[in-house]
Amino acid sequence: MPLMRRKRIAIIGGTGQEGFGLALRWARVGHRILIGSRSPHRAEDATRRLLSLIPSAQVQGLPNEQAAAQAEIVVLTIPYSAQGGILPALREAVRGKIVVDVTVPLLSKRPLVVDRPAAGSAAERAKQLLGEEVQLVSGFHTVSGYLLSRLDEPLEGDVLICGDAEEAKQEVIALAQDLGARGFNVGPLRNAGVLEHLGGLLIGLNLLYKRRAIGIKLTGI
Ligand SMILES: NC(=O)c1ccc[n+]([C@@H]2O[C@H](COP(=O)([O-])OP(=O)(O)OC[C@H]3O[C@@H](n4cnc5c(N)ncnc54)[C@H](OP(=O)(O)O)[C@@H]3O)[C@@H](O)[C@H]2O)c1
Repeated sequence: MPLMRRKRIAIIGGTGQEGFGLALRWARVGHRILIGSRSPHRAEDATRRLLSLIPSAQVQGLPNEQAAAQAEIVVLTIPYSAQGGILPALREAVRGKIVVDVTVPLLSKRPLVVDRPAAGSAAERAKQLLGEEVQLVSGFHTVSGYLLSRLDEPLEGDVLICGDAEEAKQEVIALAQDLGARGFNVGPLRNAGVLEHLGGLLIGLNLLYKRRAIGIKLTGI
């Protein structure tokens, strides 16, 4: 990867399945990864785990706030219920930065019920909590964390991305391509609820059909 394209990417909740999988695939192509956690120990454990899989990776484990402060791009892979406890403390650290929200807001898993946040979507609520200056992009909901961590397997599914900042969306589409996927712009941040519901449907399908990596692919494009 050309040096110019290398980013410092903080993954808030990067100790979990989705965040760790993204960290792995981005580290593999040369991005610098800051794994964020509420616990420095869990962040360090995840860092060791990543280095055992990709010894050449540039990765560091940090408390969420420090990871966000040191990053150029901040990715949120935390449960919807954790937004209120974590995001307000990141406001200063993410001011003016690209923040990618991957949250699927679930009310319950069995049966699978996706929440409808009053803000319109989890991503719009994240923007409220992080402040207007943030360049919020919503995406990666249809990418299975399980599949991300299976480095030998290709990511066959497409990544759908929405947001109000055009340049930010192009950066995030490039990050989708770094995973080996196709990334598509699906419009303004107001569409985030659709992506979140789509992500929820896939989680439900995985449960119903006893699979772990169902994705989606656009045709005719
Ligand atoms: N897993 C997938 O395949 C997938 C696919 C698409 C979208 N997503 C979305 O991505 C986000 C992360 O998914 P995940 O499966 O990685 O979730 P997870 O493992 O349950 O949580 C991710 C991380 O969030 C942190 N966290 C902060 N507050 C928490 C709280 N109150 N309870 C539990 N964890 C908390 C934890 O890190 P620390 O304890 O280290 O702080 C945890 O490791 C979710 O919003 C999910 O809907 C997941």
